[in-house]
Amino acid sequence: MTRRKKLYEGKAKILYEGPEPGTLIQYFKDDTTAFDATKKAVLEGKGVINNRISEFIMTRLAGIGVQNHLIKRMNLREQLIREVEIIPLEVVCRNIAAGSISTRLGIPEGTALPRSIIEFFYKKDELHDPLVTEEHITAFNWAATQEIDDILAMTLRVNDFLTGMFSAVGITLVDFKIEFGRIYEGDFSRVILADEISPDSCRLWDSTTNEKLDKDRFRRDLGNVIESYTEVARRLGIMKEMPTVIQGGITGDAS
Ligand code: TMP
Repeated sequence: MTRRKKLYEGKAKILYEGPEPGTLIQYFKDDTTAFDATKKAVLEGKGVINNRISEFIMTRLAGIGVQNHLIKRMNLREQLIREVEIIPLEVVCRNIAAGSISTRLGIPEGTALPRSIIEFFYKKDELHDPLVTEEHITAFNWAATQEIDDILAMTLRVNDFLTGMFSAVGITLVDFKIEFGRIYEGDFSRVILADEISPDSCRLWDSTTNEKLDKDRFRRDLGNVIESYTEVARRLGIMKEMPTVIQGGITGDAS
C-alpha cells in the first residue's frame, strides 16, 4: 500500500486522503466490534469480503439510480469514494423484528413487521447511538426536513432492491443500517448513500433454515462468522472472483 495521509480511523474502516480533491480512499479492516467496541476481534479476511460485497451492492444500487459514494473498488481492501459530509445518523430499516426493536418493544425476534419500519439513531458512541425522532434531527440541525424526506425515500428503495436481490439467492433481509452524506454542487447540496452495506451492517437469514449469516454470529458468539460472510458472497455470485484469500483463509493486503 502506498503511504497516504490517514484522515479518520473508525472501528471497521479507515479513511485516507484520495488522489483527487473531493475523493477519499476507504480501507476495510478485519477488526470487528460489537456493543460499542466492548467486544472486539480480528476476523481474518473480513475486510476483503465486506469490500467486495459492499462494492457489488453499491454498484447495483447506482444502477437503479440510488446515488452513492462509490467510485470504484481499487484492490482487495480499498475503494475510491467521493468525499461527503456525513450526516450523523444511522438509518435502520426493518422488515422482521430482531435485535434492539425486539428488546425495546418486546416483539419476539422473527416476527414479521406489519410494514417496513425506518428508525434513526444519532451517531454518538459516548451516548450509545440513541434512537431519535425527526423532531430531534431538525431541531438540532443534523439534517433538514427535505433531506430527511430524501433519506426516507432512498432507504425504502434500498430496502426494496436488497430484499429482492437477497431473496433471489435464498436470503431473507431482516434489517439493515445505512448512512448518508452531503455532497456540495455550487450553492446546492445533495444527499447520497455513503459508508458500506455488508453482513456487518445487515441482518441476513437463510430463507429456509433462518440460520444467521451476518454479524449477529459474532455478537452472539455463534461461531463461523467468516464462513457465513463467505456464504453470502458465494450466493451473490462474487466468490469466484475473490482471490484464494478467503477460500484459503489467508489475509489479503491492500495490493
Ligand atoms: P439493532 O437491532 O441493534 O438496532 O441493529 C439494527 C441493524 O443495524 C442491524 O442490521 C445491525 C445494524 N447495526 C449496525 O450496522 N451498526 C450498529 O452499531 C448497530 C447497533 C446496528
